Amino acid sequence: MDYKTRTRVAAILVDDKIAAGTEVTILGLVRTRRVGKEVAFLEINDGSCMANIQGVIDPPDKFEILEEIQTGAAVRMKGELVASPGGGQKYELKVTDLEMVGSAGTDYPLQKKRHSFEFLREIAHLRPRTNTFGAVNRIRSKLAYGIHQFYQERGFYYIHTPLISASDCEGAGEMFRVTTFDLPQVPTVDGKVDWDKDFFAAEAYLAVSGQLEGELLATALGDIYTFGPTFRAENSNTSRHASEFWMIEPEMAWAELDDNMDLAEEFLKYLLTYVFDKCGDEMDFFSKWVDKELRQTLESVIESEFVRLPYTEAIAELEKSKDSFEFPVKWGIDMQSEHERWLTEKRFKKPVIVYDYPEEIKAFYMRVNDDGKTVRAMDVLVPRVGEIIGGSQREERLDILQERMTKLGMADDFDKYQWYFDIRKYGSCPHSGFGLGFERAIMYITGMTNIRDVISFPRVPRWAKF
Ligand code: 4AD
Ligand code: MG
Repeated sequence: MDYKTRTRVAAILVDDKIAAGTEVTILGLVRTRRVGKEVAFLEINDGSCMANIQGVIDPPDKFEILEEIQTGAAVRMKGELVASPGGGQKYELKVTDLEMVGSAGTDYPLQKKRHSFEFLREIAHLRPRTNTFGAVNRIRSKLAYGIHQFYQERGFYYIHTPLISASDCEGAGEMFRVTTFDLPQVPTVDGKVDWDKDFFAAEAYLAVSGQLEGELLATALGDIYTFGPTFRAENSNTSRHASEFWMIEPEMAWAELDDNMDLAEEFLKYLLTYVFDKCGDEMDFFSKWVDKELRQTLESVIESEFVRLPYTEAIAELEKSKDSFEFPVKWGIDMQSEHERWLTEKRFKKPVIVYDYPEEIKAFYMRVNDDGKTVRAMDVLVPRVGEIIGGSQREERLDILQERMTKLGMADDFDKYQWYFDIRKYGSCPHSGFGLGFERAIMYITGMTNIRDVISFPRVPRWAKF
C-alpha cells in the first residue's frame, strides 16, 4: 500500500489546487455512509479542513467491503476528481478503489448526531474527530503560527523561560510543588522540611509565568516574547480557569504603559484578522453553530478603538450603574468577572483596557504611580470572556521596588530575588509587558464558552485524565 501519494482534502476543497480529472487517493475517517438503489456515497474527513469529501460509488455493490464500512472506519479511497453536481461541494470523487484500513464497529461513540460538550469531555480522546474540536485544533495551530509571525515581524526575539522555578511571579501562592521526596518519608530538620535534601536543594515549583526571566532577557535583547505552558494551582472551578494553560508574554525594554496598551491592542486585532484570513471555514462554522453574532462582533472589534479607562473611572462607571451586582462595588476592590463583563459587554460593548489599579490588589513588580496609591497595571477585558490580557509597566527603581516588596511581606525573600534586583542595580531601564492567555484568546475567537473545550486535554481541579 502506498500512503505517500495521498491528497489532502484541504488541497482539493480549500486551496483548490487539484484539477478535475485528476486521480487522487484520500485517506481518512468515514463520517457517513449512504447506500441508495443506484449509487452509494461515502463522506470522508481527513482532518485537514472542515469539509468532507464525498466518494460516489456506482453501482452501489461495486465493492463488497462497503457493507462492512461504518461511521468512524479508516479508509483508503481512490478515484477520479469530478465536478460535483450537488450544491454542497465543488468536487467529489468517482471511486475506483476502496479499502477499509481500520474498522469501527457499531459502538463507535461519535455517531452522526450532535453530542453535548459535557459528553464529549468524557471522551476527550475521540472528540478531536468531531467538527467542533477539529476546528478548535486547527485554529489553535494556525493562531500559534500567527502569534510567532506577529512578534517576529516586529523584531521581538522568542525566548524560553524555565518551567521549573523557585519564585512565585504573581505572588498569589498558587503553585504546584516540584519535588522528588518520597512523601511519607519527607526528611526534616528541627521539625521543618529539610529542602536542602531535595533534588534542587531548594523548594521548587511549576512556573506560573515566565515574566521575571522575560524581563531579564528584554533588558538584554530589546523586545522578547515567550509562548509556553504555565501552571496554576488555583482551586477555582470556573469556565475560564485551567490549571495548565498556555500564555504569550511579550516584554519590551524602553517601553511605558501606553506602548504596552498599543501593543496589546494591535496584537489582538492582528490575531482576529489572521484567523479570518487563514481559517475562514472554521470561523464560518463557529459563527453558524456556536455564536451567530461571532463574525460580526469580531469584525467590528478589528475596526474599533479599544476603550482605555483608569481603574478609578471604571469603578465610578460601575457605581453609577443601575444594574445590581452580587459583589458590592467600591474603590479598592479586585473586580469580579461580573464587573468586568458589565464594563465590556454592557457599558462599552467593545474591548476595554482598565489601567492604574490600586497597589493592594496587584503584584509586587508593577511600577508605583506618583499618587502612591496605584500601580501601572493594565487588564484588557473583552465581551464574553472578561480578562484576556494582564500586564503592566514594571518597577525599574530598585529602592521603590524593595520598599513595595517589604510592604507586601516579602522582605524575607530578598535573597531569592537578588538576580531580579540586579537588573535594577545595573543599567536599569523602563520596561513593560503583558500576558495573553492562549485559551482565553481561543474562547474569544471561537465563541466557545468553556475553557475545557478549547484545549485538547484540559487540566482543572479534580481532573487530569488522558
Ligand atoms: O493576569 P496574569 O496572572 O498575569 C501574569 O501572569 C503576568 N505575569 C503577565 C505578564 O505581565 N507577563 O495572567 C495573564 C493572562 C490572563 O489575563 C488570562 O488571560 C490568562 O493569563 N490566565 C489564565 N488562563 C486560563 N486559566 C487560568 N487559570 C489563567 N490565569 C491567567
Ligand atoms: Mg490578571
